[in-house]
Amino acid sequence: MESAEAGLKESAIKHFAAKASLYAERYVVQASGDVLQPRHRAILQMVHEVMLPKGSRILDLGCGPGALSFDLAKQGYRGVGLDAAPAMVQRSKLQAAAEGLSALWRYQLGDVEALPFRNECFDAAVCAGVIEYLPTDENVLREAARVLKQGGRFILCVTNKYGYTASLSAILYRIQKIPGARRLMSILRRIVVGGRYGAMGFGFRPRKHRPWAVRELMIKHGFRIDKDQYIQFTLLPAPFCALTSKLKLAIDERLDVLDRTPLRIIGSCYLMCARKEMS
Ligand SMILES: C[S@@+](CC[C@H](N)C(=O)[O-])C[C@H]1O[C@@H](n2cnc3c(N)ncnc32)[C@H](O)[C@@H]1O
Repeated sequence: MESAEAGLKESAIKHFAAKASLYAERYVVQASGDVLQPRHRAILQMVHEVMLPKGSRILDLGCGPGALSFDLAKQGYRGVGLDAAPAMVQRSKLQAAAEGLSALWRYQLGDVEALPFRNECFDAAVCAGVIEYLPTDENVLREAARVLKQGGRFILCVTNKYGYTASLSAILYRIQKIPGARRLMSILRRIVVGGRYGAMGFGFRPRKHRPWAVRELMIKHGFRIDKDQYIQFTLLPAPFCALTSKLKLAIDERLDVLDRTPLRIIGSCYLMCARKEMS
């Protein structure tokens, strides 16, 4: 394991356990260019396109505050949200209860690299914005393949190493280290975008993926990729995307058209919908 990846998993879980409220707020108080809603919409669209039968049992790997599972529940899917951060699991449970969805979805603490489920018990699995925080891809892909039924669907979203904003993250990481910089970014976000919590910064560096390398790995683990999509062609990286929020230009949505051009490779996230091959 490379030194940058040692301790990544533990740091990330600690981070998300402490920042669950901030993360959940970002679903509702969005800056133009934030990834959460576009990713959420793209995943729901993929579920719709593959015509997953209603009532299918879905596993949300690293479910965070549960936002995706609530929408899946409202569309008639049931399942389990699993997360390693206790505060995320707690939030998901409370919100599901508040929305009357607890009969369809349950939430539990667990590690995506060692799933507490028997073989072949889910019809589909989703893993969005999680693999970046693991030291390696192998364990989660092996576990996803194990718990999915034959022919089960797997939707995986990774940060694209060649994405335009992702390629600026090294510079941003350095800027965030300047004393007072993160505080300033938080104030800026609160003024321009609103919300209580301000900007989110990491004290560690999430991994980024080469799309074709992830595809190869998926195939190695017994998946066939049926569909892929690049998303988030934002102009400015977070937290600077907050600056264009007030303008309401919806530039980012307009740029989604780039997925249908050779420039798709500059999208910040790469989304795949795969199927577990019949053995
Ligand atoms: C960026 S959030 C993504 C949440 C959600 N999937 C979404 O799309 O909003 C990453 C989530 O993965 C969780 N996580 C990170 N490492 C994990 C692990 N090894 N096992 C389970 N959950 C993990 C974090 O606690 C956090 O809630």
